[in-house]
Amino acid sequence: MAKLSAGSYDLNTWLYGGYETDIVTVIYGGAGSGKTNFCLLAAVSQAKKGKKVIFIDTEGGFSVERIKQMVGEKDGVEAVLESIFLLKPTNFEEQKKAFVELNKRLRDQVDLIVVDGMTILYRLDFADARDKGDGALQMINSELAKQMKTLAEIARKKEIPVLVTNQVYHWEDEDRMVGGDILKYWGKCLIELVNDKGRRTAYLRKHRSLPEKSLDFVIDNRGIKKRGWI
Ligand SMILES: Nc1ncnc2c1ncn2[C@@H]1O[C@H](COP(=O)(O)OP(=O)(O)OP(=O)(O)O)[C@@H](O)[C@H]1O
Ligand SMILES: [Mg+2]
Repeated sequence: MAKLSAGSYDLNTWLYGGYETDIVTVIYGGAGSGKTNFCLLAAVSQAKKGKKVIFIDTEGGFSVERIKQMVGEKDGVEAVLESIFLLKPTNFEEQKKAFVELNKRLRDQVDLIVVDGMTILYRLDFADARDKGDGALQMINSELAKQMKTLAEIARKKEIPVLVTNQVYHWEDEDRMVGGDILKYWGKCLIELVNDKGRRTAYLRKHRSLPEKSLDFVIDNRGIKKRGWI
């Protein structure tokens, strides 16, 4: 089965070739744990090959400066940026519209879809909806589920790999995902990123053909590497 390069030799080795192409992979973790780096790395890796990427950035994490570092001085950053179609919704209603746009774009060739910050805008609206009562809450909950279902269907039917990131919050001594059940259900691969005082670890929490395992990693200019003996 074809895999999507994660844009890092060590990550690809860990994932036996990379991300699976017919499912949604959910990368989750706290602030600064490396989620956006994972997304940019996969996007840059595709864009360098001239492949088309749709990147939905809900948190302003998409950084041209960071992409320049990843691409390196010599190679063409312009061409890489041209291969990435960026959408930047600023509220959940706009995120909904971004999904309409995404569906339109599927008429052309698309090789990777990234949604960096799947529930950030949802969470903001969620707080509002809580004040407005059950109806509003149900409505945005079902919109989130609909968006995840749409992504899962695109991945399965069109074999376009999808990467989604999600934040966690701390609740009763536990790190929980925002919109947890919905994302865990639709994400057939779950990767948790933990940053413990600068020591970063990725945990493979759910996978269709690999056991639970972990990878200690570092972030550097070019991307992500396995942490060596230090
Ligand atoms: N060139 C680099 N070299 C080393 N570390 C870097 C480099 N660029 C970024 N980082 C580190 O990456 C981390 C941020 O990672 P990233 O933005 O991927 O986190 P995140 O999980 O997306 O966070 P958030 O939840 O806030 O969006 C920071 O700790 C930053 O220092
Ligand atoms: Mg981020």
